[in-house]
Amino acid sequence: MAIDQLGEPAWSRDEIVDSVTEFARLYATRPLQNNQFGMGASHMFATWFIARHLRPSVVIESGVWRGQSTWLIEQACPQAEVHSIDLFLDRREYVSPRVHYHNIDFSEIDWSGIAGPDALIVFDDHQNAYNRLIYADWFGFEHIIFDDNYPPHAGDFYTLKKVFAGAGFGNVSSDDASQRYRSLSARATRKIGVLAQRFGAGEMAVIPQYQRDRVAANLFDAAFLKKHLRTYLEFPPLFETGLDEPTPKPLLDESWSDRVPDLYAERANYNWICYAQLNTRS
Ligand SMILES: C[S@@+](CC[C@H](N)C(=O)[O-])C[C@H]1O[C@@H](n2cnc3c(N)ncnc32)[C@H](O)[C@@H]1O
Repeated sequence: MAIDQLGEPAWSRDEIVDSVTEFARLYATRPLQNNQFGMGASHMFATWFIARHLRPSVVIESGVWRGQSTWLIEQACPQAEVHSIDLFLDRREYVSPRVHYHNIDFSEIDWSGIAGPDALIVFDDHQNAYNRLIYADWFGFEHIIFDDNYPPHAGDFYTLKKVFAGAGFGNVSSDDASQRYRSLSARATRKIGVLAQRFGAGEMAVIPQYQRDRVAANLFDAAFLKKHLRTYLEFPPLFETGLDEPTPKPLLDESWSDRVPDLYAERANYNWICYAQLNTRS
């Protein structure tokens, strides 16, 4: 059976629910009312809650898009040094003078002096999550959020949920991105990204894979995750999502819909956002 949790959260369900009202007030002040192709309410809440709980001194965000999640990270961790990465930074609408922006891939940045057990990475770049964990581990990071964590046969990259299901990636036509980009080198995919950018937001539905994108169905990737992860948690959605695949039990019932209407309106926008903690090195 596929794994949907390893270890125990460092927070309780009551603590999560108790902070929803505060989050709803903050969410009303977000810079972009409609963040199409970016995080919606459930993922914004999960990221804000986890980031506030961990109190990292450094946050690295990969996948900026128009900048909504950068703003969120600043709200959750006002004291933290923030590094935000996107290959196409010119699409930002929220730009912060406090943030260090980078336009090269996470795997091509030397994080020496920045990485450490006190840092948090938020990956929202639709790249192979298994590879991302390996790079993060090599640099000595421990706390990682993967915004999108699609189940098998959905989404455009290899997620931890797919790893745990032994599903691989790119072997069926519904794994759309790898079908389109499977034979291309990283350089070529970057060029395609530039073209996609020119053609506009419609192309955001599929983001080219930066590195290896096709993964045969296997159980050994899951075995490595079990060995190297101390914690893996799929954060619950705020409300019942109406999605076909099962989700963790929603945090709120329908009686909350009038109290937090902005959050309720985005209830279907959920992709099993997860928190992964690598084993401590010290
Ligand atoms: C889903 S959007 C991010 C949304 C954003 N986090 C938000 O919620 O507002 C994904 C972004 O990842 C970027 N991206 C694609 N490949 C990337 C890479 N290798 N490194 C960093 N960002 C990448 C895309 O250009 C796009 O802006």
